[in-house]
Amino acid sequence: LNRSHIPTSSSNGDTTLLSPSLGSSRVHMSYPWGLRPILAILYNGFKAAEEEPRLLGTVENRLGLQEWLTSQGHEFIVSSSKEGPDSDFQKHITDVRAEILITTPFHPGYLTADLFEKAKKLKLCVTAGVGSDHIDLNAAVKHKVQVLEVSGSNVVSVAEHVIMSMLLLVRNFVPAHEMIERGDWQVSDIARNAFDLEGKVVGTIGAGRIGYRVLQRLVPFDCKELLYYDYAALPQAAADAVKARRVEDLKEFVSQCDVVTVNCPLHEGTKGLVNEELLSHFKKGAWLVNTARGAICDKDAVAKALKSGHLSGYAGDVWNVQPAPKDHVWRTMKNPLGGGNGMVPHYSGTTLDAQTRYANGVKSILENYFDNKSQEPQNIIVGLGKYETKAYGQR
Ligand code: NAI
Repeated sequence: LNRSHIPTSSSNGDTTLLSPSLGSSRVHMSYPWGLRPILAILYNGFKAAEEEPRLLGTVENRLGLQEWLTSQGHEFIVSSSKEGPDSDFQKHITDVRAEILITTPFHPGYLTADLFEKAKKLKLCVTAGVGSDHIDLNAAVKHKVQVLEVSGSNVVSVAEHVIMSMLLLVRNFVPAHEMIERGDWQVSDIARNAFDLEGKVVGTIGAGRIGYRVLQRLVPFDCKELLYYDYAALPQAAADAVKARRVEDLKEFVSQCDVVTVNCPLHEGTKGLVNEELLSHFKKGAWLVNTARGAICDKDAVAKALKSGHLSGYAGDVWNVQPAPKDHVWRTMKNPLGGGNGMVPHYSGTTLDAQTRYANGVKSILENYFDNKSQEPQNIIVGLGKYETKAYGQR
């Protein structure tokens, strides 16, 4: 049997349940054949989720899976509590209950190597969305736990957000709107730092699904040039279609760009990639948009570069810690003219359109798993004991 496609609860079809309330005593519960405990860590949607059922990625609306999973007889545990040993996340992962873990990058439950050691029953991690860096993928390989995500489910949503963020930085939108709310009107204070995207050099670090869609959407803006930096070259026809030029050296790449956008996954090779040293190679006054992962950019180096005016702007929705602490420097950092901050909470990939797509995608992954069917190859990040994707670093 190929175990990557043939999941079982246990060899005899029973699942051992360790009740958290009973401390270390083991309660052996016989589940009927096929029943599986599934843990989902989602964010609380509160009033909004009660009023808007399409907010599927919330604790309240449970990815729209509750009824279906219950009708199949599965146990579906959903919680937002994810930090520390007493969190529901750690309790259910380490008390050997959960066979399937569903997480979302918007409210990441960090599945560390240490937790993998204790997650004895875990067989499958499903990311509701795209980006599985909150799972220690090397540990998943070691423990033969599969990691799947709903590839492509929100890539248009993010690409649109990237274009919006570029425009709001380059055109100095945020301070202009704040001025209006304040009741003021001084065009020169805004226009002194507002430009057109036309005629600028724009480059993406990572030219995968999102990066390429960003390039496609930039074509009608008549930029001076579109560049990309990626260890995987675009197929020639795809590069030609958007007239993108590949630059193989990162420092050279950033030194040519007026606008840089980050669209690669977070992994060992990209953590802190945009640090003080690399920022020193950026053009003075460049704009930087990062909707990939907060930790790809060094928090303090970015804040310093913006404060000094070396960067004119920084925008994105991803943070090194999520939820971001109230005093996170990225919330309030500004350029010397008081603008240049386009930060929002992590939502670019979780529009209502995207939520429908990734909730459907999670269901289809679970269906394949329950029915012992092969998974869509593009969704498999880690298969049984090996990386299946080439996007998480050159291995
Ligand atoms: P993808 O797998 O289609 O493309 C990623 C590209 O990055 C690949 O071409 C890969 O070769 C390249 N890459 C990897 N390491 C690199 C490096 N060191 N330097 C340059 N390029 C490198 O992934 P997709 O769908 O485009 O998503 C990219 C990332 O965007 C996700 O991993 C996730 O972190 C983030 N994302 C953020 C969302 C949000 O809501 N803010 C939603 C969806 C994705």
